[in-house]
Amino acid sequence: MSATQPLGEPQIIAVPDPEAAGPAAASHITDVLARSAAARGRADFATTGGSTPVGIYRALAEPGLRDLVPWDRLHVWWGDDRFVPREHELSNVKPFDDVLLRDGAAPLPRANIHPFPVARTLASGEDETWCADELTGELQAAGLSTSEGWPVFDLVLLGMGPDGHILSVFPGSEAFRSGAWALAIPAPTHVEPHVPRVTLNPALVTVARAVLVVVHGAAKAEVVREVLTTERDPERLPAQVARHDRATWILDEAAASGLPG
Ligand code: 6PG
Repeated sequence: MSATQPLGEPQIIAVPDPEAAGPAAASHITDVLARSAAARGRADFATTGGSTPVGIYRALAEPGLRDLVPWDRLHVWWGDDRFVPREHELSNVKPFDDVLLRDGAAPLPRANIHPFPVARTLASGEDETWCADELTGELQAAGLSTSEGWPVFDLVLLGMGPDGHILSVFPGSEAFRSGAWALAIPAPTHVEPHVPRVTLNPALVTVARAVLVVVHGAAKAEVVREVLTTERDPERLPAQVARHDRATWILDEAAASGLPG
């Protein structure tokens, strides 16, 4: 993706309700990851936090889809995390562990799971920036191809906050002026939870081979409309970095209710 190529518009899929969004997203994820692994022998997938992943992971754990995911060639990363240990209720890794790893649903080699190393950071007495730098080192060592200097994921899964944030990149974020692949974000005060974060750079969403955004609820209908139909200004509406023709947005009807047609 070069800066001069037209961005295009995402595919929008409306589903009746949040319960339908999980299976729809899981089916899309399985398809993208299977094609990526077939094409390149490996699939690098950055998953998300928030409330949407649990329904997705439950659908991925079902035999129908589970048997189609290329677990042995899949590498799972996190787009962002709260700066808490993996077993903490606020951790973005905990839902993945609880739903996909605990009962062995996902036969994913442990070495293929790449969370932000929060526990190791805390044990070392280091800070969020050190944690983000460690993740950057792990990404560099993984040898993903790059585009305009950014690592290219096969798929980035995102939720979107009520302020239009994705990852832990909030409106006006310093992340838009950083060349770091991953960076520390101070605890936000305007959205929950108010804990420090570590996040991938939003540029990685721009260059990813595929992006999937899953949004539920009428409360986000207006911000969905703004992100997908008004002038592009990602610093004001960070989710607009996922407004391009390699992205798919799965919305329940309530979240899609502000869109024309
Ligand atoms: C996080 C997520 C964050 C989330 C949005 C949407 O750490 O909280 O990465 O970006 O995806 O806040 O969350 P919901 O889908 O739960 O509204």
